[in-house]
Amino acid sequence: MNKIALTGIKPTGTPHIGNYFGAIKPAINLSKNPELDCYYFIADYHALNAIKDKEQLKQYTREVACTWLACGLDPKKIVFYKQSQVQEVTELNWLLSNVTSKGLMNRAHAYKAMVEKSLENGDDPDALVNMGLYNYPILMAADILLFNTKFVPVGLDQKQHVEMARDIAKAFNKRYGYTFVVPEELIQEDVATIYGADGRKMSKSYGNTLPLFCSEQELKKWVSAIKTDSSLPAEPKSTDCTVFKIYKLFASNEQADLMAEKYQKGISWADAKAELFNLMNSVLSPMREKYNYYINNYDEVEKILADGSKRAKVIAKETIKRARANMGLD
Ligand code: ADP
Ligand code: TRP
Repeated sequence: MNKIALTGIKPTGTPHIGNYFGAIKPAINLSKNPELDCYYFIADYHALNAIKDKEQLKQYTREVACTWLACGLDPKKIVFYKQSQVQEVTELNWLLSNVTSKGLMNRAHAYKAMVEKSLENGDDPDALVNMGLYNYPILMAADILLFNTKFVPVGLDQKQHVEMARDIAKAFNKRYGYTFVVPEELIQEDVATIYGADGRKMSKSYGNTLPLFCSEQELKKWVSAIKTDSSLPAEPKSTDCTVFKIYKLFASNEQADLMAEKYQKGISWADAKAELFNLMNSVLSPMREKYNYYINNYDEVEKILADGSKRAKVIAKETIKRARANMGLD
């Protein structure tokens, strides 16, 4: 039987090229492995502790859904769904809460960061913490354990959450007998950190993201704003710079080697940026077209998600039944 790989993306912002190269593209590549059954979803329950505006949540949800499809997710192969349409997740969340110690949640990085921030503001340690944030790792464990997941492809920042899901699965199995597959994180070591035009990690928190499907004009503007050194046009340039790093992401090996040679010989920043823009635009244009199609025909996407949640519910119901029975609820 195939093993299950599962991952989710929170609709907390417009998807950017960091999300694409760091999460979406590797997940889509992974789904080509014939020995895996993949479950990919939009983690809208998880977004609730950050996004409080109803229309904004809907907008980000639409954007994340259309992004997955524009990037090549095949909904016939991958079970693609919206977390909140599989309400079994919330029941499992409750069941798991009862085998999860408060101490485990106290150690979560995201919770600890909020406590730090509250203290820095001179407030009560929990001033910025709602229970959605505090219980976040249990909800994530529910996402994972509900589908007998073996592999969870995530970035390094999510490693602790998957470890917690593993701890929770083990605690449950120990108390109630074998119920859940014990999951493992699949950290893509070779996935590079993507940088913003300012040279810092591209992130919503730094406000330096490049939306994956921005217009051609916006893309041009972004490329021209990338920070460069003050070397003269004809001087050789180091490939250890943001312009080259981004070029490399979009380029084939041959293209990257050719460009590295040009850097060595000396290329003006204006020319290097023009080449970067052309390459990025040629890769992104066909995806942007697909994205715009789905955004403008969102009813098709809704059908895909409804079908995905129907398929997801088949396994979800079996797992809930097993967990309930093992706990003495049936
Ligand atoms: P952000 O940092 O913009 O808030 P998220 O935390 O929502 O992004 O990230 C969603 C996924 O995209 C995660 O798996 C994360 O590892 C990946 N990701 C986000 N930013 C980058 C980046 N700059 N480089 C590589 N991967 C990234
Ligand atoms: N917490 C993840 C993030 O912030 C999103 C997520 C929610 C997730 N549930 C998941 C990832 C289950 C993998 C598996 O990026």
